[in-house]
Amino acid sequence: TQHLLGIKNLTREDISLILSTAQDFKDVLQRPVKKVPSLRDITIVNLFFENSTRTRMSFELAERRLSADVLNFTASASSVAKGETLLDTVNNILSMKVDMVVMRHSASGAPHFLAKHIPAAIVNAGDGINEHPTQALLDAFSMKEKTGRLEGLKVAIIGDIMHSRVALSNIYLLTKMGVEVTVAGPPTLIPKYLTDALDVRVEYNVKKALQWCDVANVLRIQLERQSQPLFSSLREYSLAYGINRRMLESLNKEIVIMHPGPINRGVELDSDVADGPSSIILNQVENGVAVRMAALYLLANREN
Ligand code: CP
Repeated sequence: TQHLLGIKNLTREDISLILSTAQDFKDVLQRPVKKVPSLRDITIVNLFFENSTRTRMSFELAERRLSADVLNFTASASSVAKGETLLDTVNNILSMKVDMVVMRHSASGAPHFLAKHIPAAIVNAGDGINEHPTQALLDAFSMKEKTGRLEGLKVAIIGDIMHSRVALSNIYLLTKMGVEVTVAGPPTLIPKYLTDALDVRVEYNVKKALQWCDVANVLRIQLERQSQPLFSSLREYSLAYGINRRMLESLNKEIVIMHPGPINRGVELDSDVADGPSSIILNQVENGVAVRMAALYLLANREN
């Protein structure tokens, strides 16, 4: 494929290649000179129609570490605010000889639409409630780095499954790689239409999911995607489904805690867990740069 639109259509071999290439780039990033010339003839635009801290900075850093030329686009500061369409916006940018588009958009399927209409390679940096492929890749890389394996690992994905592109991309990737996946949280945020179509177990008791798993990937409650609240209050969510130190200590075993960020501290995750010894949250962010370097490098080379 010329694009990275999601995990759904990748093979196990594709995923393994991206993860092993990411390890090579992680080794490069430990050196005093962190830059390689691989993409020095390539120009990439980071097209963000939705807010981002980690993904955007991580892609930009990955592009610069690969020696690409980088353009940044923020929808709210652009002529999109004057009514220009997505396609007009992208075609105008591409006419300036841009080779690749990294795109985040609130509409599920926006990068797939673009892929049908433009000649450049597209990387999905998160589309609505659909997929966030590079997040799933960096999550898998971080799990493997911490535990030494993917095959046979037990991963609980906890929280707002319904609105989470991170959950969907994680489920596609982990099940392809032989990981056992349980989704856990309130029934209102784990719709049956979704889980029936996926190879996952469902658990409404978060403590039981934690007891079962080796790794817990805890998700942000996405209030911005809920037209009406799906639980009574954030305090009640936290009491019933939030993860705190007391709960972790009662498990009598070590588990790894992950979160894609940004964290709602005190809602899905207490600060003493997010910042505690079980957490690899900042390692995930560190690994994001190497994983995105790998994805961009492999796509650019496939094109040539
Ligand atoms: N994990 C993640 O996508 O974070 P940002 O929204 O800050 O990019």
